[in-house]
Amino acid sequence: NVHPVILCGGSGTRLWPLSRKSYPKQFVPLFGETSLLQDCADRLRGPAEAPFAKPLILTNEAFRFVVTEQLAAAGIDPGPVLIEPEGRNTAPAILAAALYLKQQDPDALMLVAPSDHVVPDKAAFHAAVEKGVQAVAQDRHLVTFGIAPDRPETGYGYLKLGKTPDASGKAVPLDHFVEKPDLERARQMVADGTYLWNSGIFLFAVRDIISAFEAHAPDLVDPVRVAVEKAKADLGFLRLDRDAWEPIEDISIDYAVMERADNLSVVPFAGGWSDVGSWSAVQELSNPSEDGVATAGEVTAIDCRNVLIRSESPAQEVVAMGLENMIAVAMPDAVLVASMDKAQDVKAAVAALKAKG
Ligand code: GDD
Ligand code: MG
Repeated sequence: NVHPVILCGGSGTRLWPLSRKSYPKQFVPLFGETSLLQDCADRLRGPAEAPFAKPLILTNEAFRFVVTEQLAAAGIDPGPVLIEPEGRNTAPAILAAALYLKQQDPDALMLVAPSDHVVPDKAAFHAAVEKGVQAVAQDRHLVTFGIAPDRPETGYGYLKLGKTPDASGKAVPLDHFVEKPDLERARQMVADGTYLWNSGIFLFAVRDIISAFEAHAPDLVDPVRVAVEKAKADLGFLRLDRDAWEPIEDISIDYAVMERADNLSVVPFAGGWSDVGSWSAVQELSNPSEDGVATAGEVTAIDCRNVLIRSESPAQEVVAMGLENMIAVAMPDAVLVASMDKAQDVKAAVAALKAKG
């Protein structure tokens, strides 16, 4: 059975001022009424004819109630919510989930999904998972889901195809995995045409991913196992043991396992995917008009082109006139006004703000 595992511990600042450390983007209704977390959990119910198990959520102390409130509001009954005492990145989190699930069901498959991505075509996603399930069953592979790249993005992992995929959408073996290349390497890989982006969604049998950790990141295994064994249940939450957890290395699954493993497959995914990594991505995903005008909230845009204008408080009118290639996001306590070309630099601006105190 497929057990969804939702990663909900990150706190990006690239969508500042809407996404904050205290309230990151997975909780924000960015597109319409529902948050990215709610959309993710809905997608991870699985297909109606073969539903997945209840999702296991991995989050931290600060977000635990937002998570349960948002899922309840979306009519989703989560399985256990695992609380990491401190963020240690995705490798320890995923290993904890695997060790926990193995106690429940040694044959479980886990479908790991970030809570803050957009995957609009649910049916295509379920079909891709089904292809992945076949690769896990046949080859005991760790399955990645690959996206055709359209730019030399340095913030992503790259999947070198071991074979040209055919039209069936079936998984193909992965030759190797390259996490976050420098720009030159990224350009080469995009030009080469035999690489896909890593979507950050993974599927594996719990026993296979545990073996992979034992082989490639053995130092994580004992402390994470102790943190899971000593976890304390509390009102539907399961708190991993702090003393075991704190000394664990901060490392992502991509570096800890994926770059090192040789039993990888990739399911090419053409159903649309975005990690909503910048305001320009939000603009593209917001159904802009022919002139590229995308708005949210109480906004009047006159003679504008290629803009994203958002008013994030109910009674706050924002009027934009004659703007081109601009982002404006108005919150009650902070306003971002930026050139669309600077969308990638918001993270650095937030860091500068923080340094200023
Ligand atoms: N529970 C939990 N705990 N979740 C976490 C933690 C943690 O310590 N750290 C990160 N996450 C969540 C984030 O919220 C996000 O949903 C997901 O795990 C991935 O973490 P990111 O920090 O966003 O990773 P990334 O974007 O730098 O890179 C990953 O995603 C790319 C695609 O978006 C990699 O897998 C890349 O290879 C991939 O291309
Ligand atoms: Mg990310």
